[in-house]
Amino acid sequence: AEERAALKERIRRLLKEREAVLVAHYYVDADLQDLAEETGGCVSDSLEMARFGRDHPAKTLVVAGVRFMGETAKILSPEKTILMPDLDATCSLDLGCPADEFAAFCDQHPDRTVVVYANTSAAVKARADWMVTSSIGLDIVKYLHEQGKKILWAPDRHLGAYIQKQTGADMLLWQGSCLVHDEFKGIELDLLRAEHPGAKVLVHPESPASVVAQADVVGSTTQLINAAQTMDATTFIVATDNGIMHKMRIAAPGKHFIVAPTAGNSATCKSCAHCPWMAMNGLQNLADVLESGKNEIHVDPEIGRQAKRAIDRMLDFAA
Ligand code: 13P
Ligand code: SF4
Repeated sequence: AEERAALKERIRRLLKEREAVLVAHYYVDADLQDLAEETGGCVSDSLEMARFGRDHPAKTLVVAGVRFMGETAKILSPEKTILMPDLDATCSLDLGCPADEFAAFCDQHPDRTVVVYANTSAAVKARADWMVTSSIGLDIVKYLHEQGKKILWAPDRHLGAYIQKQTGADMLLWQGSCLVHDEFKGIELDLLRAEHPGAKVLVHPESPASVVAQADVVGSTTQLINAAQTMDATTFIVATDNGIMHKMRIAAPGKHFIVAPTAGNSATCKSCAHCPWMAMNGLQNLADVLESGKNEIHVDPEIGRQAKRAIDRMLDFAA
């Protein structure tokens, strides 16, 4: 515990010395989330992380999350130095959508507006017309559908299917998935709900349709935390990465949170309700990158410029 306290103190000092700001996601270690907040950084969902990083005057951003979040920060602020605790922290959605295969898919469907999820590489974003996050994807596709556009969506098939169902838009879906959310099970959730009749169900839309169908609220991590805070219930079943529980408990003291059931138990299921890549962010590697300046995110400037158009469209729409 003393070592933890010492590491936190070292991080606070280094953030000041480097004039750096910490931008964290709700799925990372609770200590990192707390540090981000108390040092004037932010902890939030992907949309707010992007906006906060873009608007903050600091010359160095340290992104505690996964690689696409660091890349988005760099694309929006090429002049800033973006550091990450571990550059190997990726995402199964990003891995499952290689830029060359994606470009070929787009080439086959030139009549479609290309909408990609934030959880993709810079090169995939560069091929897109729009980038969206889970908090705003539904509104943007609804808008495009009303404009009469046909959509090519990538990479998350569950989020794509959910948006398609809600909007009635013509969407061609890439078949990617998140290895964490894909594990949530509809039948087991149904049984758990029967044990907790008054519980409300909060679901991230990367979950399978059988789980989303049982949700009281479907939304981004920030939207789910807001729901936990404002909804009139004492027990919540939560289908998203369990890193979110830290903030939910702070936001809604006295309420009771249960992680939605997954397929395996912790011995057989490597990613049961916790993202292995988010888990790569820790106090030690955060302190080390602040000290050394290593682990800088680089994005090819031309790819970055092209990707920025798709991200700016979303940010302008959200504004
Ligand atoms: P949010 O934008 O909802 O925070 O989601 C990011 C993510 O990676 C979910 O798995
Ligand atoms: Fe990607 Fe899923 Fe991890 Fe989010 S939780 S970063 S979608 S693998």
